[in-house]
Amino acid sequence: MKPINIKEKFTKFNKQWYPHQIAVVDDMQVILAKVQDEFVWHKHEEEDELFYVQKGTLEMHFRTSVQLNVQNANEAKEWVEIVKEGELIVVPKGVEHCPKTQNGEEVHLLLFEKLATKHTGEVTHEKTQTEYPKI
Ligand code: NI
Repeated sequence: MKPINIKEKFTKFNKQWYPHQIAVVDDMQVILAKVQDEFVWHKHEEEDELFYVQKGTLEMHFRTSVQLNVQNANEAKEWVEIVKEGELIVVPKGVEHCPKTQNGEEVHLLLFEKLATKHTGEVTHEKTQTEYPKI
């Protein structure tokens, strides 16, 4: 039941795309991550995911498959939302997303998500982490 200083927690790690847990709220967790360049396209079928930008500017890329009325064809729709310092964005469950940063900037993120949420959904990648250190 002590206050948690977020800026101070960000000084405790440097590895990018590596979530560190700073708090647990029932079945949810608060995690910090330093990110740069591009992550991995993935989705979480059952969980929403909140990203708050503590430092820098985040590009959240989204992709959905739209069913067309011709011969069961699908058309991928892709768009981007720019999330500035001090802003947050919620990624809805089931929507493919890929966080990116601009011009090589390192961005500091606070995420709020379920403990059960997998880092890269059902995708396995060299960036995928299965355990988040507690700091
Ligand atoms: Ni995600």
